[in-house]
Amino acid sequence: MILTIINTNRQRAIPHQLLSHISFPIGSPLFPHQKISLQVLSLYPIPRLFRFQVMASSIFNAPCTAPSVKGKNYDGLKPAVHGNLRFNAAKKPSIEGCPKRVFIVRASEKKDGAVKKLGLSDAECEAAVAAGNVPEAPPVRPKPAAPAGTPVVPSLPLSRRPRRNRKSPAFRASFQETSISPANFVYPLFIHEGEEDTPIGAMPGCYRLGWRHGLVEEVAKARDVGVNSIVLFPKVPDALKTSTGDEAYNDNGLVPRAIRLLKDKYPDLVIYTDVALDPYSSDGHDGIVREDGVIMNDETVFQLCKQAVSQARAGADVVSPSDMMDGRVGAIREALDGEGFQHVSIMSYTAKYASSFYGPFREALDSNPRFGDKKTYQMNPANYREALVEAYADESEGADILLVKPGLPYLDIIRLLRDKSPLPIAAYQVSGEYSMIKAGGALKMIDEERVMMESLTCLRRAGADVILTYFALQAARCLCGEKR
Ligand code: PBG
Repeated sequence: MILTIINTNRQRAIPHQLLSHISFPIGSPLFPHQKISLQVLSLYPIPRLFRFQVMASSIFNAPCTAPSVKGKNYDGLKPAVHGNLRFNAAKKPSIEGCPKRVFIVRASEKKDGAVKKLGLSDAECEAAVAAGNVPEAPPVRPKPAAPAGTPVVPSLPLSRRPRRNRKSPAFRASFQETSISPANFVYPLFIHEGEEDTPIGAMPGCYRLGWRHGLVEEVAKARDVGVNSIVLFPKVPDALKTSTGDEAYNDNGLVPRAIRLLKDKYPDLVIYTDVALDPYSSDGHDGIVREDGVIMNDETVFQLCKQAVSQARAGADVVSPSDMMDGRVGAIREALDGEGFQHVSIMSYTAKYASSFYGPFREALDSNPRFGDKKTYQMNPANYREALVEAYADESEGADILLVKPGLPYLDIIRLLRDKSPLPIAAYQVSGEYSMIKAGGALKMIDEERVMMESLTCLRRAGADVILTYFALQAARCLCGEKR
């Protein structure tokens, strides 16, 4: 078996599927006795390979030994893989036709010399058995003893015992219905004009990243573990905020600049943008506010179209209207197409509820509405059927992806849209959900990591294809078997 991966490190992310693919022959119970040697040839610092090796261990469910791989190139490497694995590293192999800064991973079946001759031929063995000289095999293991005092009862006459399908890790892995991978995550990142990364008090582990440095580094970390989609949220200087949010479509504003920088460094990175006026509005609302407090719909949509086009011009792959104005998806589609951006997708915040779970986010961006609330445009948390009204509108106006927000408290809405629409569904695990898990973990009331993975899995089970989550990096590292 020979598998080869060629990757230009940091310029192109390693596709997660490839990582799983390469781990398949190593960990698969289909090949329990197969000896596989991995030949690792690297033109780039070896620690990059960490990813695929731990990935191999995470896929492998059966008990396995964990020999530490020796060799100066493997410092810090802790693969938990089959003892049969062998690693050979060459720092500067000369491989014809391979561009610089590329590494090749090759998994091949290792033959351990000729099969040993054991004496008897097949015919002799068969003859021995036929003659009644059956060779010995271990007896069936005795039934494990129950603790003293266990009541002796007749077994229940059950035709169905669902526990049979859960009886071991291998069974459970076989019948697991939902899977989750770093490819399902979109990583929301806060950016600001500063040079430093400023911690966000209400969101432990999240920062307002300096767009020039912190942002680029965070994206590199995410790509290292297979997260190659991000969504940008800007903290706009107060001095640039106006009642009509015109900074939103400044081609040289914070978001367009950050997009251009990221696309320059990582051309294959998938960049989502947020389309709404709140970070740019002196009123902190997603739309233009009339004197009497009414959020003006069509005038706001006019601004949003300019914002979306400006983001597309900078290189955004997906624009995501989160404003909840009526008719914005169709108008944005038309505006994008009119400017030659037919290829730019629209992820519509279809069912965005007026939720109190957004609190920490608004702190992060300092975007609290200056007065009132967002209930005239965001949906009433008590409503279910209304999500369909929004979904049908967004579908007919040309949305490519439908988003439900928040996530965990709205699993029924995710399932509803999943069942009623053929479009991909996104779920937004919002700031409040993130912060609650972080807080519970910090207080040792819950196991943060397990609750994180369970919540994300549940969002997938409910029907989400992609999940916008502040846990993207942490969860992807877990999925790759990396603990930090
Ligand atoms: C605003 C926007 C919000 C979020 C994403 N885009 C906040 C709001 O509607 O007030 C919330 C995200 C979160 O809480 O994580 N257009």
